[in-house]
Amino acid sequence: MLMRIALSFILAGLGWALVACSPLPESHASSQKLQPTSSQQELLIVFSGNTLGELKPCGCAKEEDQGGIERRMGYLKSVVPEGHALLFVDLGDNFKEPTRQGRIKARYLMSAMARMGYDAVTLGDRDLLYGNEFLKKQEGLPWLTSNMRIKGMDPPRYRIQTYDNGLKVAVLAVADPDLFYVSGHSQITMQDPATAVRDLLPEIAQGGQPDVVVLLTHMERKKALKLVDIDGVDVVINGHIEDESDTIDMQAVRKGQKVFAQAAPLGQKMGELRVTVYGEKKTYEHRMVRLDSKIPDDAGMTALHDEYNQEIEALFFETLKAKRAKDRTQVYATESTCKTCHAGAHATWSDSRHAHAYATLKEVNKSFDPECLKCHTTGFEKPGGFISEIDTPELKNVQCEMCHGARLDHSRAPQGGFAEEARGACSQCHVPKHSPNFNYETYWPKIRH
Ligand code: HEC
Ligand code: HEC
Ligand code: HEC
Ligand code: HEC
Repeated sequence: MLMRIALSFILAGLGWALVACSPLPESHASSQKLQPTSSQQELLIVFSGNTLGELKPCGCAKEEDQGGIERRMGYLKSVVPEGHALLFVDLGDNFKEPTRQGRIKARYLMSAMARMGYDAVTLGDRDLLYGNEFLKKQEGLPWLTSNMRIKGMDPPRYRIQTYDNGLKVAVLAVADPDLFYVSGHSQITMQDPATAVRDLLPEIAQGGQPDVVVLLTHMERKKALKLVDIDGVDVVINGHIEDESDTIDMQAVRKGQKVFAQAAPLGQKMGELRVTVYGEKKTYEHRMVRLDSKIPDDAGMTALHDEYNQEIEALFFETLKAKRAKDRTQVYATESTCKTCHAGAHATWSDSRHAHAYATLKEVNKSFDPECLKCHTTGFEKPGGFISEIDTPELKNVQCEMCHGARLDHSRAPQGGFAEEARGACSQCHVPKHSPNFNYETYWPKIRH
């Protein structure tokens, strides 16, 4: 019993430490709260963004095991304090790659987000990856854009929310035209972000001055920071991600009575911004909440992810036919051939995790997912490489030839001179997202042979 209490105390301590470590200097300064008064009203803004199709983290590395729709919903149901005036928004860049699998993922992500009950979703450059027709078909998503016109879609330019505590909140959303023209979106027209906001604010005020004006932005951090200065805007929250290795500065910035915050990469953390309004005065508290294994999974979202998995599995089997019909000339000698002459190296390899990389995928029900197979098998999607467990059982796992190159010729007529090339092979798979602690000096000794 005592042990148990001690343990949960430590865990709670850890949770707090993580929150405290997240970059947040301004917020703590403001946590010496004024005493509550009858004129004080609170708004809790919860924000996500930059998801890049990340439905569920891959689990390759504990440090990066954050995010995903199961935990996002789990967080909404059990972490967000109840009874608050809540504004729930997303900063855009939901989709990742223009592939069939990318599109399927996008569909599931949209369906998950529709169930989460967002108040506003910013349109980012990535969100137009599959075109406006695709977006139109995704129901229940409150897209919002104050400076963009999209053919065939008519998202509102702003939103007004009124809450039981009397607060009236206006939400606007702008994106940087430079991001869109670069990626060649032809079905949209855009206005300068600052101009669009300045034009809309008087129109909004005509219906009664809002207590809080929240501007969602989709652009580079430094451009978004400038928009904090627009008269009448209280809160700016920004999103935009270049690619999955983009390190995003999540530091919140206070400017007088105003605040700037930034969405985390890959939906890994949820942002919380607590706005307290005392008449003309406002104070802010900000924190980023890690969606790690301490956050409970939501069963409904797990079921939705299982459905996605089944669809990917079906797609995998569908594409097998075409792969089987292709030229299947042997390219790899395979580890069992190397073993005949390099018994020592083979024994070391067999004890390493490389030799069990395929079993790892089976354990997590992902042995049909192309996004995982490419690093956990030999030569996936390369001529002569892994196709499936049934077709090419001899090419499971990260074999010798993933580091030493295809060596069929060598295994028939051995010649040296290529050993050192293997040192450069690690970076194909040990990339920061999947292996954040990778360092050749510490990793190589674990598999030295
Ligand atoms: C870019 C290459 C790459 C991709 C893609 C990849 N992995 Fe990994 N995976 C790795 C590497 C490298 C490690 C070992 C990380 C380390 O320990 O530093 C690993 C480790 C793992 C582990 C941890 C094994 C353990 O026992 O600790 C799991 C689980 C895993 N991967 C599952 C997946 C799944 C599921 C996918 C697809 C969604 C996937 N991987 C995609 C490279 C990749
Ligand atoms: C084709 C992809 C790939 C290449 C290339 C690769 N690895 Fe790995 N590595 C993996 C995967 C996947 C895992 C995790 C396997 C598992 O546990 O399922 C892993 C795991 C490891 C581990 C175990 C980590 C641990 O903490 O126990 C070490 C060590 C390692 N790799 C070292 C290396 C080194 C050194 C190189 C380059 C010389 C290299 N790897 C090249 C994919 C690769
Ligand atoms: C994860 C990558 C990786 C895998 C998998 C791997 N090797 Fe290596 N191997 C290396 C590296 C790196 C070196 C050392 C290069 C250097 O620094 O000289 C090496 C060295 C060797 C050498 C030369 C050793 C010496 O004494 O100079 C042989 C032989 C060899 N590997 C055979 C194999 C065989 C056989 C397998 C499969 C059973 C295998 N390797 C799997 C990366 C790998
Ligand atoms: C028929 C026996 C035989 C087979 C099969 C074989 N090797 Fe070798 N391997 C040798 C011999 C002999 C050497 C030493 C060649 C030399 O130094 O000229 C060697 C050397 C090597 C080296 C060191 C190269 C260097 O630059 O010194 C590596 C790495 C290697 N083999 C990897 C493999 C891998 C990977 C496989 C399987 C794809 C494999 N070998 C299959 C016999 C074999």
